[in-house]
Amino acid sequence: MNGITSRLGYLQDLGIDAIWITPIYPSPQVDFGYDISDYTAVDPQFGTLADFDQLIAEARQRGIRVIVDFVPNHTSDQHPWFQASRSSRSNPKRDWYIWRDGKGPGQPPNNWQSWFGHSAWAFDPKTDQYYYHFFYPQQPDLNWRNSEVRVAMFDVLRFWLKRGVDGFRLDAVLRLFEDPSLKDDPILPGTNAYGDPNIQHKRTDNLPEVHEILRDFRGVVSEFPGDPVLISEADEPNITELTKLYGLRNDEVQLPMDFQVADINRLSAKVFRKLFDEIENNAASGQPYIFFSNHDQPRQWDRYGDGIHNDAIARVMAALLLTTKVTPQMYYGEEIGMRTTPPARKEDVRDPIGKLGWPREKGRDGERTPMQWDTTANAGFTMGTPWLPVPESAGRYNVAVEQRDPDSLLNFYKKLIALRRSRAALRDGSYLALNPQDENVFSYLRTTANGHAIIVALNMSPHAHTISFDLGSLGHPGAVLTSLLLSPPGAFGPQSSGQLQMPPYAVFIGEISYR
Ligand code: NOJ
Repeated sequence: MNGITSRLGYLQDLGIDAIWITPIYPSPQVDFGYDISDYTAVDPQFGTLADFDQLIAEARQRGIRVIVDFVPNHTSDQHPWFQASRSSRSNPKRDWYIWRDGKGPGQPPNNWQSWFGHSAWAFDPKTDQYYYHFFYPQQPDLNWRNSEVRVAMFDVLRFWLKRGVDGFRLDAVLRLFEDPSLKDDPILPGTNAYGDPNIQHKRTDNLPEVHEILRDFRGVVSEFPGDPVLISEADEPNITELTKLYGLRNDEVQLPMDFQVADINRLSAKVFRKLFDEIENNAASGQPYIFFSNHDQPRQWDRYGDGIHNDAIARVMAALLLTTKVTPQMYYGEEIGMRTTPPARKEDVRDPIGKLGWPREKGRDGERTPMQWDTTANAGFTMGTPWLPVPESAGRYNVAVEQRDPDSLLNFYKKLIALRRSRAALRDGSYLALNPQDENVFSYLRTTANGHAIIVALNMSPHAHTISFDLGSLGHPGAVLTSLLLSPPGAFGPQSSGQLQMPPYAVFIGEISYR
């Protein structure tokens, strides 16, 4: 944590408004912090509560808000609550978790599967029952139908709010409830990386009861000043489902993460246009929130890059993230072009799902390697031994090298963020897709209420394309288009007339103005 505090200057300089820190709580680290054994303390390997307070204080001085992870679905099996729960069937905490009898000797209650492979039920011989775990067996699910669990977990939110956090990223919230009928999940064709039959998590995912809890969470955070934020990790299948997370009266989550946009996994003007049009049509429901990378999936560099133009594609993705009508979330190192570095051998894997699913599932180590600060040992991340290896590409893609190069990806991100800060059209302006039939270039107009307008054009293809906009029919007769930010730098043709010659994977951001 002191490491983060020591780098707040970098984050401020980058121009970001808030940081979300993945779990820092005491944990056996089976799921790297997502298996929590004490919700109201800090794991000594990361620091102390005093360090945490210091981090909040220094972040605040720099105008950076701090959002922490809240993991309500499950605890660690080492949490005293679970230790009590498993100790006997009559323990007062027994019902804090989901305990059920098996169907028969050696047979779990039903066919529900863990997201991390195999049965979602673990047998505990001590009390001769199974407990339910959506994730690792060391992460037993809390029973959210139990009111004592609710009270205890709401108090966890209050504990961190009192320490000054600005909000929470809600982990795996769609999984809070299970169908009490215990009916089997439907089997789908094929098998997963762990060799299990594919199933639809119908009885354990996205149950309507979740909304009641989201309203309660919102109620708790609203007890505190400053409108603390709730960001939901919820991979909803479409915008209709996503919209429900705002709540019927806008009384649930302010910022539901949009996994639809994050996981397109290919550059397609058509698909992005369709999804951003949907977001715009849904704008009245609440503020959209998008991202491309996080700690659970390969970095965008690898998912969207074509292996040849990755540097240019990284700029297209950055521009998309920071010029659309959304709250953007970046993942550390995205701004310097960090790539995914999965383990080469099974014996090097840290993430248990990578061991279980090797080689189809290599785990999430590849996207969690140390931040690349400079060209010294371990890319300047640690003087000790890093938990995960630093890739060779760190010699080129690191903060120190990129800070010195005006054309680096890092400086491109900085310019984009600065542009977003200085131009209300990019932050709050309306959105209108332009040239809706164009298969290669995704272009849109962002306009403020008082008519200040910006055009963004992103060539998502490996070929050059000439495109044009009729500024007159866009409501700006006699106006000209002037560039604000380009990638690659250089000429895009006679742009003032509204015509652009876009190089492959190019970014154009320009302002409509009157000479
Ligand atoms: C989602 C988190 O992002 C992931 O890292 C974790 O393994 C699961 N939830 C379980 O908490």
